Amino acid sequence: MSDFEGLKALVTGGASGLGRATAELLAARGAQVAVLDLDPSSVEKPLLAYRADVTDDASVRTAVAAAVAELGGLDVLVNNAGIGAQGSVEDNDDEEWHRVLDVNVVGMVRVARAALPHLRESAYAAIVNTCSIAATAGLPQRALYSATKGAVYSLTLAMAADHVREGIRVNCVNPGTADTPWIGRLLAKAPDPAAERAALEARQPTGRLVSADEVAGAIAYLASPLSGATTGTSLAVDGGMQGLRLRPVGQ
Ligand SMILES: NC(=O)c1ccc[n+]([C@@H]2O[C@H](COP(=O)([O-])OP(=O)(O)OC[C@H]3O[C@@H](n4cnc5c(N)ncnc54)[C@H](O)[C@@H]3O)[C@@H](O)[C@H]2O)c1
Repeated sequence: MSDFEGLKALVTGGASGLGRATAELLAARGAQVAVLDLDPSSVEKPLLAYRADVTDDASVRTAVAAAVAELGGLDVLVNNAGIGAQGSVEDNDDEEWHRVLDVNVVGMVRVARAALPHLRESAYAAIVNTCSIAATAGLPQRALYSATKGAVYSLTLAMAADHVREGIRVNCVNPGTADTPWIGRLLAKAPDPAAERAALEARQPTGRLVSADEVAGAIAYLASPLSGATTGTSLAVDGGMQGLRLRPVGQ
């Protein structure tokens, strides 16, 4: 029997990239999975799809309630919807800071708030937040994005403490640069996309981008009932970028 057999999962940002790979993996491992996304039009059965904007509390509450009703409960929440931002602190105005924080941080809070009453009913409740290596390493030109992911990291620890005695585990996954449509959009904006991709690959000790399936595997590990003793952790899936210090090739 597969570890997610009989469990019900909700994945935000599940229409694309890391969320899509995660929703498909959890379903392949036996879960019934609902996706919550701004644009779920590409989501296909057996995944259930709900349109919601994580910056809109009413829309989140409506979608979570509908998903839980159709699934018949909730065991796993993957809080994954997020957007990027580039530049130093001088490059984004207050409005953009509020917009990105609203999606990446408060968005996770809104979905968790709506999901918690249902997770309390589960014998295997788990929340996995998609954080980033940007939370733990200083990356150039990512001040706003990094601030949001640093907040997600701290939020993960605080939520793990708040809910451990209710039997709800909370962890986060910290991907390095992962090959998703998001990175495709970033490369398309670069003056030389091939050179930019080569630079991103070279930044990771493995010499390649992380795959969406590799991140999905890590999220599934943290969400699985087999990981019942794991809470308040961050799992790096970054090709060694955070922990390793290699010498240049040939030295
Ligand atoms: N790709 C990377 O290199 C990378 C690295 C580290 C962390 N992450 C994180 O992984 C998560 C997913 O990124 P991805 O690369 O799969 O991106 P993606 O752009 O491929 O997918 C993001 C999904 O989130 C949805 N979304 C965006 N704003 C939303 C909103 N307001 N309400 C509901 N849904 C919304 C989008 O519609 C999209 O389907 C993000 O939190 C991102 O910060 C990505």
